[in-house]
Amino acid sequence: MDWITNCATRLITNQIFEKYWNKEDTLGLRTEFMNVDGFLINPHQVIKHALTTDWQKPILQIYWWKEETLIKAVEKIQKEYSDLFSWIELNTGCPSNTVMKVWWWSDMLKDKEKTLKIIQELSEIQGSLPFSLKTRAWLNDSDKESQKIFIRKSSKYCGKISIHWRTLKQLYTWMTDRIFISEIKKDIKTNWNSVCKIIWNGWITSYDDAENKLSQFNLDWIMIGQATIWNPRIFTPHKPTSKEKLETILKHLNYSIACDQRFDEKVACKSWEITIQDLEIPLDWIENRAKENQKKSDLQPHTIVEFRKFLFQYVKWIPWSKEWKQQVLVCKDYQELKNQIINFFSAF
Ligand SMILES: Cc1cc2nc3c(=O)[nH]c(=O)nc-3n(C[C@H](O)[C@H](O)[C@H](O)COP(=O)(O)O)c2cc1C
Repeated sequence: MDWITNCATRLITNQIFEKYWNKEDTLGLRTEFMNVDGFLINPHQVIKHALTTDWQKPILQIYWWKEETLIKAVEKIQKEYSDLFSWIELNTGCPSNTVMKVWWWSDMLKDKEKTLKIIQELSEIQGSLPFSLKTRAWLNDSDKESQKIFIRKSSKYCGKISIHWRTLKQLYTWMTDRIFISEIKKDIKTNWNSVCKIIWNGWITSYDDAENKLSQFNLDWIMIGQATIWNPRIFTPHKPTSKEKLETILKHLNYSIACDQRFDEKVACKSWEITIQDLEIPLDWIENRAKENQKKSDLQPHTIVEFRKFLFQYVKWIPWSKEWKQQVLVCKDYQELKNQIINFFSAF
């Protein structure tokens, strides 16, 4: 998710999952989406989205402005960066009004033949990263059947397809016809012998909810978006205690600062050519830097301010959090913010 699934957030989620995971489950993490034109022309602007640690191997999600750039960028990623990621994924599901004005994302669903051609081309680029697709339910009622055909045809070129189960008009609100996803899966498996995995996405709010949907709709996998923002523990059956929440928040803050420092240091070298080593931060480095930073206070003010978006989600349903937020809004210093967080949780 844009602005959410950065390196530090993925790291926290993965650590929690590894500690408590149910042996039958596997976790697939996605990067924020990365603009491939920026990746080729001015990488410093966008490459932060692709930062990862030495063991994460997330799914790299991309979008683009120009078709030629898209092909070139995917060729480069397959050739030079494939060790960093597990999949490369094209987003055709974003409903944003601004992006709908140009030919990206959900707008691609309006010209499905052209999009299919692009999907085929991308999937045929040589490299070790398998190709996947993110899409959504049909655009409007008259589009339902053609979207079904589009997904069926795409399944020939994709190892997995995640379907955000809302139509374009529904944005992030009400859900559409849920049976449709089972029908699609049955159709591509039985009539077309496809091995493509179909992933349900939309409105999963708990681990139990995910398990129920998996069995009720006979799905391959589940993808969780917004519910992870305030609770990385959603991927485990375990509900967090206040102590665990506090630990996670402080770790998340420290990792965020360390990852931003690493990125800023790299960008400060004017001649920075992006290499695979620049994008892959050793976990030891992050841990050590996070430890060193704990004694300082004048740390990355922009990270401290940016971290609020996670912090406010973590405390969302806790009593007095609304009033407490006002105090946090004036904190620009790391130690001050840390003390505020510790004091807040000491009351529970
Ligand atoms: C803040 C935010 C950023 C998002 N960014 C992306 C993105 O970069 N790529 C993507 O495929 N979907 C993105 N989405 C959509 C989610 O991945 C997901 O499809 C949607 O929220 C529905 O799932 P949910 O009901 O579990 O949240 C974003 C959603 C939110 C709320």
